[in-house]
Amino acid sequence: MPDVATKILTFAEDLDEVSFSELESLISMDPGLTAKILKVANSALYARQQQITRLQTAISLMGFKAIKSLVMLLTASNMFSTKKVSPFYKYFWQHSLVTAFIAQKLCDISGNTRIREECFLAGLLHDIGQMSLIEEGNKAYDGMMEIINQKEDRTCEMERELFGTDHRFLGRKIMESWNFPSIYCDAAGEHGSVNIQSPHKELITYVTIADILTTVLHEFDFSPEVQQQLTPFLKYSGIRLEQLKYFQDSFMIELKDNKLFQECKILFRV
Ligand SMILES: [Fe+2]
Repeated sequence: MPDVATKILTFAEDLDEVSFSELESLISMDPGLTAKILKVANSALYARQQQITRLQTAISLMGFKAIKSLVMLLTASNMFSTKKVSPFYKYFWQHSLVTAFIAQKLCDISGNTRIREECFLAGLLHDIGQMSLIEEGNKAYDGMMEIINQKEDRTCEMERELFGTDHRFLGRKIMESWNFPSIYCDAAGEHGSVNIQSPHKELITYVTIADILTTVLHEFDFSPEVQQQLTPFLKYSGIRLEQLKYFQDSFMIELKDNKLFQECKILFRV
């Protein structure tokens, strides 16, 4: 994990502690990153007549938290850009991106917008442990594609049989080794668990609901099995099943028109 990204992540949440100029000078240390931020800011986020040419303008328009997510998004896409684009690679980032966008939307739906940027990033990286398993045994993992993410516990079980470890455990370890804040380590380590121990249960619950929803987006309704899977998480979050119908009805159509999503698809080559 590059230095700039790690430093930005550990900055305090509110901007009182870090001035815009500090953030600007930190990001400027990486010219490639700066250029990409400006590109996304111009093409995806703001339909402005005038081009945004300065990082400072982008930061003040988007706000600290959104810039932070963007830096992490760009860093993650960069880290894996040399990897061969296999069917699993495409599937992985497609799933991760959609999870991120749904998790963020769930924050809006439940009126919990305070953690929407964190939800986005946690959603994007929740399965990052799978990346290291692919490295370990590409063929074995490709064979698991059918069942992956259908049921989190079953996926982890199969991984332990094949590799002696699972993507939740590895995901947490990877995040910790990158010095990520605990909220992201916990999301990688505990998503899909019905017995979440982390103090960030709210965020992990949104990520889990988003994770489950990605598997049923193209269906007309929620099967009894999926409803059962969702129940403990809906109960905790206060979100009602009827509110999730939106994701099957129109979310993907709207997402395809979302400029940031389009930009992300290019970044992750999916
Ligand atoms: Fe997972």
